[in-house]
Amino acid sequence: MTEFVSVVRGVGGYLPEKVLTNEDIAKMVDTTDAWITARTGIRKRHIAADGETTSDLGTKAAQRALDAAGLTPDDIDLIVMATATPDYTFPATATIVQHKLGITRGAAFDLQAVCSGFVFATATADNFLARGQFERALVIGAETFSRILDWSDRSTCVLFGDGAGAVVLERQERAKAGDRGIKGIHLRTDGRYKDLLYVDGGPSTTQTVGHLRMVGNQVFKHAVGKISESVLASLRQANLAVNDIDWFVPHQANQRILSAVAERLGLEEGKIVSTVATHGNTSAASIPLALDAAVSDGRVKAGDLVLIEAIGGGLAWGSALIRV
Ligand code: UT7
Repeated sequence: MTEFVSVVRGVGGYLPEKVLTNEDIAKMVDTTDAWITARTGIRKRHIAADGETTSDLGTKAAQRALDAAGLTPDDIDLIVMATATPDYTFPATATIVQHKLGITRGAAFDLQAVCSGFVFATATADNFLARGQFERALVIGAETFSRILDWSDRSTCVLFGDGAGAVVLERQERAKAGDRGIKGIHLRTDGRYKDLLYVDGGPSTTQTVGHLRMVGNQVFKHAVGKISESVLASLRQANLAVNDIDWFVPHQANQRILSAVAERLGLEEGKIVSTVATHGNTSAASIPLALDAAVSDGRVKAGDLVLIEAIGGGLAWGSALIRV
C-alpha cells in the first residue's frame, strides 16, 4: 500500500485592521501598560470590526495560504477549522468558509480544542491525508475572542485578540516527499481541569454565548510542565532530539510561558518565534499566524524542522513536529 505524508504547501495569516493598545485598555479597566507588558509581553492586539466574523478572517487567511502555495480553492477537498468562536452555533464555520471560497466538493468541519485547536486540527487533517481519504486540506485557526471577553474583567480582557491563520497540507507519497512532512504529533486532554478556563454560557446550559473565565495563574502552573512533556513525546515519536528543532512556533499566550518552556527543553531563545507582543493571545489562530510571520520574513525556510505546541481550555494540550 502507498504510504502518504502530509506536507506543508503554503501558509497565510490575516489580522483585522483595528488595533487596541495596552494604553487603550487602561482607559477601560484598572490596569497599566507596565503590568500587561511585564506579566505577559503583550503590547497590542487586533480586534475584528463590527460585523466582521470568524469566517471572514478565516477565509482571508485561507486565501493567502492558497496564494502562497500557488493553488486555487478548487485544489482543496478538506477544510478542518479550529475555532471556539464560531459565526453560529451551527452550521460549522468551516462550511461558511468553504462557501465563501467557492469550494463545492469535499468536506469541511469545525474542531473545538480552544487554544490547542490548531494542533488538534493539524493532527486530524494529517490522519485523513495519511489514510489517503483526502488530497489537500486547509487547516485553519480563526477566532474573534473579542466577542466572548468580559470587557470589565481586567484579568482576562487584556490577554486576547482576534485573527486567523491557515496552512495548506498536501498528501504526498512518502518516497517522493523526502524528509518533508509531519514527523510526530502528541495530543492530550484532561477534563478534570475544565473549570480553570471556560466560557460561562452555551446552547445547552444558559442558551447564551457567555464570557471567558480563567484562573490564569493555575493555567500557567500547568502550562510549562504539560507542554514540555508533550514536546518530548512528539520528539520520541519522530526519533528526533531537541537539538534538531530549527524553530519553535508556540501558541502565543504569554511570553513568560514561551521562554520557560524553551528553557526547560534547552532550546535557544533565538529559536522562539514570538508574536505575542503584537497579536496577544489569538487562541487557535496564534500558531499559524506566528508561522506565517516567520515564513514571510524568511526565518522559516524549506527543510526546517518546526515545533508547534499549545495548551488551553479543557485542559487540552499537544505538540507537533513538521519539516516544512
Ligand atoms: O491560551 C490559553 C492558555 N492560557 C494561558 O496560558 C494563560 C496562563 N496564565 C497567564 O498567562 C498568567 O497567569 C496571567 C497573565 C493571566 C496573569 O499573570 P500572573 O502573574 O499569574 O498574575 P495573577 O493572576 O497571579 O495576579 C497577580 C495580581 C493580582 O493581584 P493581587 O491579588 O496580587 O493583589 C491580580 O488581581 O495581578 C492582578 N491583576 C492585574 N493587575 C493589573 C490581574 N490582572 C491584572 C491587570 N492589571 N490586567
